[in-house]
Amino acid sequence: MDDTKIKAELPGVIPAPRQTRRRWPILLACLALVGCLHLLRLVSPTSRLPCDKTTHQPAVCPQSDTLVPEKNSALWTELTQLQATDDFLGRAVAQLSAAVQIPTETFDSMGPVGEDPRWVTRGPFVDHLVAAFPLVHAAMDLQKVNTYGLVYTWQGSDASLKPLLLMGHYDVVPVAPLSVDEWTHPAYSGHFDGEFIWGRGCADDKSGVIGILTTIELLLENDFKPTRTIVLSFGFDEEAGGFHGAGHLGPALLERFGPDSFAMIVDEGAGFVETYGAIFATPGVAEKGYTDISVEVQSPGGHSSIPPEHTSIGILAALIVQLEANPPPAHLVPGTTLFEMAQCLAAHAPDLPVDLKRVLLRAGHSEKARKEAERMLFSSDPAFRALAGTTQAVDVISGGVKSNALPEQAVAIVNHRIATQSSVNETLKRNTDLLRDLAIERFNLSVIAHGEQLTPASAASAGTLILSTPRTLEPAPITPSDAPPFKLLAGTIRAAIRASSDKIAGDSPVYVAPGMMSGNTDTRYTWALSRHIFRYGHGSGGMGGIHTVNEHIRATDFVGMITFFTTLILNVDEAVL
Ligand SMILES: *[C@@H]1O[C@H](CO)[C@@H](O)[C@H](O)[C@H]1NC(C)=O
Ligand SMILES: *[C@@H]1O[C@H](CO)[C@@H](O)[C@H](O)[C@H]1NC(C)=O
Repeated sequence: MDDTKIKAELPGVIPAPRQTRRRWPILLACLALVGCLHLLRLVSPTSRLPCDKTTHQPAVCPQSDTLVPEKNSALWTELTQLQATDDFLGRAVAQLSAAVQIPTETFDSMGPVGEDPRWVTRGPFVDHLVAAFPLVHAAMDLQKVNTYGLVYTWQGSDASLKPLLLMGHYDVVPVAPLSVDEWTHPAYSGHFDGEFIWGRGCADDKSGVIGILTTIELLLENDFKPTRTIVLSFGFDEEAGGFHGAGHLGPALLERFGPDSFAMIVDEGAGFVETYGAIFATPGVAEKGYTDISVEVQSPGGHSSIPPEHTSIGILAALIVQLEANPPPAHLVPGTTLFEMAQCLAAHAPDLPVDLKRVLLRAGHSEKARKEAERMLFSSDPAFRALAGTTQAVDVISGGVKSNALPEQAVAIVNHRIATQSSVNETLKRNTDLLRDLAIERFNLSVIAHGEQLTPASAASAGTLILSTPRTLEPAPITPSDAPPFKLLAGTIRAAIRASSDKIAGDSPVYVAPGMMSGNTDTRYTWALSRHIFRYGHGSGGMGGIHTVNEHIRATDFVGMITFFTTLILNVDEAVL
């Protein structure tokens, strides 16, 4: 996940909160790195839910049946049984550990491939993959895009079927030099302590890349031949926005396969967590948008012995105060992914508090209930408010060069994560509206907002306010959660959890809810390739240290990911999509 994503760790299997009876606040359980499932950590008796009488399915958030391969039933059984053995665990650990030992750090603002020397760390990693996955490299066509971007193609026997696209990234965030001593096991050791594998990339996202390749190597060993073509796309700078990696891979795939050419896309993302008496998996079907707005004040320089009433720094400070006094409103909006996720929890989690369950289930058709649900959720966890609306954070400020010279320029960067129901334009407009009148009326500035002159160009002024956007990204198109690909994925997740249940999930019921990402994945470059894009890596409680010290993954959880990819590939191969 890139650094714009929430740096949350998997919460682990949350114990039944018996001792926290009637205690606020709500626990925000951030699932699998980014897909945040907000779980209310309260206890109350199970309530009966409104049910659709004919199907015995709750009317809200109906669930797909567990889906296991039919045509390849014997192979699936054989492979999942193999994956439950200690031998296979050792093999999986060795693969991930070896991959973690090759550092592939991504830094902000890296120059083009071929110019910036820091990219060369990718070469040994790509060479390692060739040696570590011989059958993959014999059976699949490998296309390199912008030197280190990898596209593997496993040609299916039926070229009329839209391919499956599996994505991942093999770069990692750097290990902060000052934190080196805080690692229990060195960051690039790939140390296995008998339970966990340790090191940078264990969770994000070498487990995804190596999990997919280990799965396919195993399928090839067992003579599986796909009917539907399988394409893999691995980026190498996702942690800095994917401009050099996925930013080239997406267009290359579009050129080669065309628009809407993939049956479904699965990239890194959310996982599953046990809470309120059930397991919830939340594949990301939505991703928030993003914008950085540069707020720049220019004013005449001069000697600071005869200053104006306000310097550019003072004016910028007032503009920032104006923004912080008027944060974008946030609401729980029926129809949004976050709303559906909360309703899914209300429909299925046996131990969710009855009062919250009741208002959530009514919130779609009662404004009173919606408001009450919003109040309960927001007051209990600020993170829920942040996910529901557009956020605002003043993250960078600079201005002035010398203590006796008036600053000619002061700049702040304001970062917004744009609500899934909003847009870049709406966010820019709101921000401009808030600052424009203050700049003109109180500080006598001329204003240029996003290339548009808002004050007469000829009018004299005390300075200029310039708003611009170095970086924007619209909220992602929402993947439908009532279409066959979502249902297939949901059924696959249930089957994969069941197949390794004794290791990772006990015997709690499993539910799948549409999830949303608060940050961005490499899928931002693939919107034209498919309507069915999912951010889901089957991570669970055994991951931690993502983007910080002591990154690790429980070995059995990593094998669980391989079981998931095995089940997904075999299910997709025989599905009508
Ligand atoms: C955003 O606003 C600009 C200027 O008003 C307009 O040209 C552009 O089409 C808008 N973009 C979208 C996606 O609506
Ligand atoms: C704004 O500043 C300009 C340039 O200093 C000045 O000529 C003008 O009178 C000012 N306007 C107001 C309303 O203060």
